[in-house]
Amino acid sequence: MLHPPAPRERPTPPTLRRATADDLTAMATADGRGFGMHYTDTDIEDFRPLFDPDRFLLAQDPADGAKQDGPILGITGSFPFDVTLPGGTTLPAPGVTWVSVAVTHRRQGILRAMMEEQHRGFVADASAVSLLTASEGAIYGRFGYGIATVHRCVEISRRRAAFRPGAPDPGGVRQVDPHEARLLLPDIHRRWSALVPGALSRSETWWDNHMLDRESRRGGATALFYLVHDDGYASYRIERGDRTCQVAELVSVTEEAHAALWRVLLSLDLVETVARWSHPLDDPLQYLLADPRQVRTTRIRDGMWARILDVPAALSARRYAAELDVVLDVHDPFLELGGRFRLRGGPDGARCERLDAGGPSVAVDVTALGSLLFGGERAVTLARAGLLETDDPGALRRVDTAFLADRLPQHGTEF
Ligand SMILES: CC(C)(COP(=O)(O)OP(=O)(O)OC[C@H]1O[C@@H](n2cnc3c(N)ncnc32)[C@H](O)[C@@H]1OP(=O)(O)O)[C@@H](O)C(=O)NCCC(=O)NCCS
Repeated sequence: MLHPPAPRERPTPPTLRRATADDLTAMATADGRGFGMHYTDTDIEDFRPLFDPDRFLLAQDPADGAKQDGPILGITGSFPFDVTLPGGTTLPAPGVTWVSVAVTHRRQGILRAMMEEQHRGFVADASAVSLLTASEGAIYGRFGYGIATVHRCVEISRRRAAFRPGAPDPGGVRQVDPHEARLLLPDIHRRWSALVPGALSRSETWWDNHMLDRESRRGGATALFYLVHDDGYASYRIERGDRTCQVAELVSVTEEAHAALWRVLLSLDLVETVARWSHPLDDPLQYLLADPRQVRTTRIRDGMWARILDVPAALSARRYAAELDVVLDVHDPFLELGGRFRLRGGPDGARCERLDAGGPSVAVDVTALGSLLFGGERAVTLARAGLLETDDPGALRRVDTAFLADRLPQHGTEF
C-alpha cells in the first residue's frame, strides 16, 4: 500500500548576520551557485574595492549558531547610490544587490527574512527609497518594489540607416584610449546624471571597476572602443564574425553630442548592424533618420525597480510638472509604512506630510508609487490596472499630469 509522504517540517527561520571582509570568497562561491556561474579569483579581487561588508547580510542555518564558517544559505547586500529625481534633486538610495538563496534551501522563507531585516535597516538609516534590478519580474512586487525604468534593445541595419536631410551633423567626436576615457568620462556622466530622472551616481571606485573590461566579460567581442565629445561619450565593442557593433554605453548631455556620436556609430565601415541593449524608449535617434523604422526594437525590458520607504521624504524631494494638492492613501502591506499623506507640489518644490484625518483621497499601492516617483509610468495606466483608485477622475488626471517628467527615467548603471 502506498503511503503519502510525511509533510515536511516547517523550516526554522535562518540566522542572519552581517558579513565581514573575510567572507567574500565564500560569498562568491554561494552567489555563483545561486546564479549558476563560477567566479574566478580575478573576479573576486576586482569586486573587493566595492565590497563594504557592513552593507551585506548573510543567512545561515540556525544549527550553526553564530559560527562564521557555517555554510552561507542566503545573501543580500546594497551599494550606496545617489539617484536623480524629476527636477534635478537627488536622494541617497541603497541599491539592493547580490540577492541569492542556496539552491537546496529555496522557498523556505530565507529571502523574505533577509528582505525584512535589510529593509528595516534602510528605514533605520533614514533612506527614503531603495532600488534594485530584478532577475525575475515576479519576485519583488511583494516587497513593495515597482518598475521605475524601462529601456529597449534596438538593432539598426547600418547601411539602411541614412540620416534625414537637414539632420544635425555637429561633429566634434574623437576616439580615445581607455586611459583617457577613464579621465574624461566621469565628468560627462555626472552632468548627464544631473539631467536624467532615475540616473545613478558612480563613485571613483565604481568607475575603476566599470572600466576594467576583462576579456572574460566580452563574450568573444573586442575590447571596448571609446568615442568622446565635449558633452557625451559612447563605448562599444565589435563582434567581428557577425559584423556587429555592440554599443555598451551612450551618454549625451546635449542633443548635439547625441547626434554627433550616432553619426560616427552609424558610419562604421565593415559593420552591418549596430545594436544597443539599453536604448531609452524616448530616445530621438529614429527622428534623425530618413526611415525611422530602421531603429528596430527587438525587446522592451524593465530596468530599475524602486521601493518608497519614507513617503513624505521621497515625494517632497522631487519636482512636479504641474501644481498638485492631493491626499494619497498609500497601501504598504510588507513594511506597513503606508497611511494617508497630503502632497502639495509643483515645478518649484513640494511638501508632503502625514495626515490623520479622513476625506477623499487617491488610494495607491506602494509599488505604483515606486513606478510614479521618477515619472516612468503614467498614473492613468496604473489606475487601469487597479493599482491606483479614486472616485474623483479630476484628481487622477491631476496626479497623472503632475508626476510626469520632462524625459523618461533611465538608471544608466547596472548593479
Ligand atoms: C529569488 C530567490 C532569492 C528567492 O529566495 P527564496 O528563499 O526561495 O524566497 P522565499 O522562500 O523567501 O520566498 C519569498 C516569497 O517570494 C516568492 N518567490 C521567491 N522566488 C520567486 C520567484 N523566482 N518567482 C516568483 N516568486 C518567488 C515566494 O513564493 C514567497 O512568496 P510569499 O512569501 O509571498 O508567499 C532564489 O530563488 C534565488 O536565489 N534565485 C536565483 C538567483 C536570483 O534570481 N536572485 C535574485 C536576483 S535579483
